[in-house]
Amino acid sequence: MTNRKTMTEAEPEADPEADPVRAEPYAGLAPIYDYVMRHVDYAHWARFVQSLLRRHHADTGHLLELACGTGNVACALGNLGYCVTGFDISQEMVEEARKKTPAPPGALQFDVRDLRDLRGIGAFDGAICLYDSFNYLLTLSDFDRALGQVYDVLTPGAVFIFDVCTEQNSVRHFGDVRDTEQGPGFLYTRHSYYDADERLQFNKFDIRLEDGSRRQESHVQRIYPHEDLLAHIDASPFDLLEALDGFSLRPGSERSDRIHFVLRRQA
Ligand SMILES: C[S@@+](CC[C@H](N)C(=O)[O-])C[C@H]1O[C@@H](n2cnc3c(N)ncnc32)[C@H](O)[C@@H]1O
Repeated sequence: MTNRKTMTEAEPEADPEADPVRAEPYAGLAPIYDYVMRHVDYAHWARFVQSLLRRHHADTGHLLELACGTGNVACALGNLGYCVTGFDISQEMVEEARKKTPAPPGALQFDVRDLRDLRGIGAFDGAICLYDSFNYLLTLSDFDRALGQVYDVLTPGAVFIFDVCTEQNSVRHFGDVRDTEQGPGFLYTRHSYYDADERLQFNKFDIRLEDGSRRQESHVQRIYPHEDLLAHIDASPFDLLEALDGFSLRPGSERSDRIHFVLRRQA
């Protein structure tokens, strides 16, 4: 029996419309996201992005960031001198991002947008989408659609960098893990498990705030075989420049925890 079935039996899914405690992914997590992710070295991630852009002679002062979350990558890039236009599907995450005040003012802009529909947002000389966000695309047709949308908002020769987490990562770190943490003004429990049959990674949060309110939300991510992603990138209009193991310049593989893809819109 898979973990997913165990959870389903133990905790029947409530109708989110009928249950005020159930929330959309990231609606409840948004105010505590930065605390939950405090171990992430966003400055390092921003420097890695910069090094990839420079390595491919595609550095640009203004980047599009998709699935920008609470703006942590954008802020780190802002500290390196970039302007960033960030979009995220979650209104609550965008509101958290907007609370951060960059210098100079106006260098970072955040708005709500589904990365599967980027019509009308303008043209950009570079784009990024980081920290597993592409794993939230649950079908390869959504993956194809997202790649097509990004391609259409890039100028010729521009580079798009995104990452995915791998099955190795799910099995090694999120196989069946429960943790509870108390932060300033809140307590949360998280149950992470991986359904290998469906190749789905689940993260279920139960968040209680000191005002007595409570939010429960489920995050579901598709864990794609590396070969499938390579095949779909190959079929896309993008040129694949490299697929990298984690934050290194070694080739990514099924043994990687995370793979960064660097794509170029044809010149
Ligand atoms: C793990 S968080 C990463 C956030 C941010 N990139 C970071 O590094 O902290 C994943 C983000 O993807 C966003 N997301 C998921 N599906 C999306 C979609 N279809 N369009 C835009 N954003 C999406 C979520 O709202 C969430 O903010």
